[in-house]
Amino acid sequence: MRLFTLLAPHGKSPALLRGFSYMPGTLEGMESTGTSRLDPRALQATSVKATDDSDGVREPQALQITAASSNPKMFTLPWETPLASWPRELLANLPRGISRHIVRFVHVGDEIYAMKEITRSVAEREYELLRRLQKLELPTVTPIAVVTGRHTKEGEPLESILVTRHLKFSLPYRALFAGNLQHDTAQRLIDALAVLLVRLHLAGFYWGDVSLSNVLFLRDADAFSAFLVDAETGDLHPELTDGQREYDIDLARTNIIGELMDLSSGRLLPDDVDEVEVGDRLVERYHSLWRTLTDVDKFGPDEMWKIESRVNELNKLGFDVDELEMKTADDGKRVLVRPRVVDAGYASRKLLRLTGLDVQENQARRLLNDLDAYRASTWREGEELEIVATDWMREVFEPTVRMIPREYRSQIEPAQFFHEVLDHRWFLAEKAGHDVPMGEAVASYIKNVLPQHQLDSKVMEAINDEADSGVVDNEATYGDESYNPEDDPDAAVWATR
Ligand SMILES: Nc1ncnc2c1ncn2[C@@H]1O[C@H](COP(=O)(O)OP(=O)(O)OP(=O)(O)O)[C@@H](O)[C@H]1O
Ligand SMILES: [Mg+2]
Repeated sequence: MRLFTLLAPHGKSPALLRGFSYMPGTLEGMESTGTSRLDPRALQATSVKATDDSDGVREPQALQITAASSNPKMFTLPWETPLASWPRELLANLPRGISRHIVRFVHVGDEIYAMKEITRSVAEREYELLRRLQKLELPTVTPIAVVTGRHTKEGEPLESILVTRHLKFSLPYRALFAGNLQHDTAQRLIDALAVLLVRLHLAGFYWGDVSLSNVLFLRDADAFSAFLVDAETGDLHPELTDGQREYDIDLARTNIIGELMDLSSGRLLPDDVDEVEVGDRLVERYHSLWRTLTDVDKFGPDEMWKIESRVNELNKLGFDVDELEMKTADDGKRVLVRPRVVDAGYASRKLLRLTGLDVQENQARRLLNDLDAYRASTWREGEELEIVATDWMREVFEPTVRMIPREYRSQIEPAQFFHEVLDHRWFLAEKAGHDVPMGEAVASYIKNVLPQHQLDSKVMEAINDEADSGVVDNEATYGDESYNPEDDPDAAVWATR
């Protein structure tokens, strides 16, 4: 892994910066207690040394971009301008969650990056943590860079910026509640959050600020997948104590209840949703999942076959088992078995291997089921699954997703589209009393269902205005707000459900 650092005198215009070349930066580990006992994969991720403002290290005097890989377009951005005043043609108008800091989505070449203006020590720390979590293959946003040493043209210092890749197709929870809501949306979000929390805790990550605002949701077949977006308060340990886990869960419960009450007062929550019940659901879900994943089973010597069913149960929940820890019980007659659960994503890994499609877990299950059905209907049960999968991609999956209208391509993930078309096809067949061809189902879905998923531009503006309403920052960061979302021509539509 190479680390690139760009050094340039402050106050230069972006055009002047283009002449500078990359220089490899230093690789230093982040100091943290118990580092040597951390998962070795997490240690490989160290890149920038996080420094504390109080340690006497001064802000760099020159613009400095620290990133794991280079994107030359980064140097053409107006770093000398407070983020709140960046020209609107650079910005992507996508829904944002509530935050204390200024956050903007910025077009950088073909990509969209999320930029968050924060102090240098916090930016470096969060970047570092996100990189470690990524190495552990946990669902978080991807860190791209930390930009420090910013100054205005007049030489006034500006806060640093943490750059992450915008998580495509993701939605903050407020945007979900603004769309056509299914009555159990709150519950489904909580279920996704419980899985995320368990995965992070298994990896030793203490979050410290669990809330719906600090999570992004991706539609995942009929459920949701949750991704961590804000690691600012978190910390990675070799293992968490029960007390640390309980603290995280308790805070999550309190925050969720507050957030739902807030939605309720804005008339965004269905009347029959009880905020406290939903908060309690997180606690129950978390504990039952944690138990399933970590409980120690006792087996007699002739019952070892039962281990397999335990492993199957874990696989069904989407988790993989890396190894089994076995210990003889004190009575010497039984064996204690505890599976070492490594990761979720059993189905998605299988689909990736078979088809190259990288999708969410429930979507993967749905696609694998369709692949199975295809295999059966074409009488190819005896054939290698790899070969059947290639044909299924060419004959079924690809022709279907090619039909996604252009204007929706940035809004709905192909795998989600496919899943929803399958649902719709089933619905049509039930109504008609006979099978419906795929082409007909796709056309009907596009005409009758897809348009309902759009979030209109007024709702979107309200969400983003509200996202900024909690910003607590110093005056210098605000600058004068020349960006007005109302003038933004960017399609303010977004698929929700
Ligand atoms: N990489 C990303 N992809 C998509 N959305 C993002 C990304 N990064 C940030 N966001 C959006 O910006 C919002 C605010 O980000 P974040 O929670 O990191 O800010 P914050 O100011 O640190 O929040 P807090 O008030 O909790 O401290 C998120 O809720 C999310 O909607
Ligand atoms: Mg946040």
